[in-house]
Amino acid sequence: MYISVIAYLVEGMTRLVEDSSLLYASLLWVKKYQRFLEFKEKQTDGTLEFKGDFKKLKLEHVSFMYPFSKVEVLHDLNLEFNAGEKIAIVGENGSGKSTLVKLLLRYYDSSKGQILLDETPLSMYRCASYRKYLSAAFQDFSRFKLSVATNVSALKKGPISKIKACLARVGLTILEADLQQNLSKEFDHGTELSRGQWQKIALARCLYKDSSLCFLDEPTSALDARSEQQMYQEFLAADTGQTILFVTHRMSAVHLADRVLFLKNGTIAGFAPHAQLLQSDQTYRELYQLQKDAYK
Ligand SMILES: Nc1ncnc2c1ncn2[C@@H]1O[C@H](COP(=O)(O)OP(=O)(O)OP(=O)(O)O)[C@@H](O)[C@H]1O
Ligand SMILES: [Mg+2]
Repeated sequence: MYISVIAYLVEGMTRLVEDSSLLYASLLWVKKYQRFLEFKEKQTDGTLEFKGDFKKLKLEHVSFMYPFSKVEVLHDLNLEFNAGEKIAIVGENGSGKSTLVKLLLRYYDSSKGQILLDETPLSMYRCASYRKYLSAAFQDFSRFKLSVATNVSALKKGPISKIKACLARVGLTILEADLQQNLSKEFDHGTELSRGQWQKIALARCLYKDSSLCFLDEPTSALDARSEQQMYQEFLAADTGQTILFVTHRMSAVHLADRVLFLKNGTIAGFAPHAQLLQSDQTYRELYQLQKDAYK
């Protein structure tokens, strides 16, 4: 009896500690939620209409801190690139590659400094008019349970031959008859694709849009090495005049870029053609060599 009372008390105490830690976590969550509700959207929309043309894109003293965070993740970035350039963005995990892409897509405004399209700050353009000329593909791309054709065109009208050409450029050859096939087993006669094939569809969607600026944030992670190399070759070689910024961890693609932006802890460690960086930056050389050796 005495022992079972002690056991009961110990169990009660344990539960109390467990429950209070759960309660603490829940309170933290509620506090976060309240801060989120109270958050005032600082991003303001501009009024100018972007027409898709620009000669230079420039970052002037750009720093960035995520909302609700006290840590600056991009520090005083200064760089300039020309329309039509193909730029690879490389760097270790957490170096700020995706954050930079998010700023360029205008998901966020920079905390300090500004991004300029020629002489006009990006923030002065109406966001929707700017995004009309952008295309993007990410690691977690969208999969629409619709036909192949609709997945590529995203409901924008255009000839079937254009859809087929975009699919061919990413190495996916689909018969014309199959373009109308729904991409989900939930449909009668529907089909399901592999992750790599879905990724190719997302890239084809990017091509179809005829955008001025194209952002690829590790969209090839599900592709095998040969498909990836082939895709980058096709994607970057075509002289479409498109400006392409692509984030990659696989250094085999850097040869295909005009310049490589090498980020380190939210700062620019180098911005030059691959061959030049290889000569001038020891960390870059090590990063490149590490992967080269792994492929031997
Ligand atoms: N939504 C967020 N809120 C707060 N901090 C964030 C958020 N997203 C990313 N970060 C932080 O910003 C820094 C840069 O992250 P980012 O995702 O840009 O790195 P990355 O270079 O793309 O890394 P990876 O190679 O892993 O994709 C990291 O320290 C990360 O923890
Ligand atoms: Mg990233």
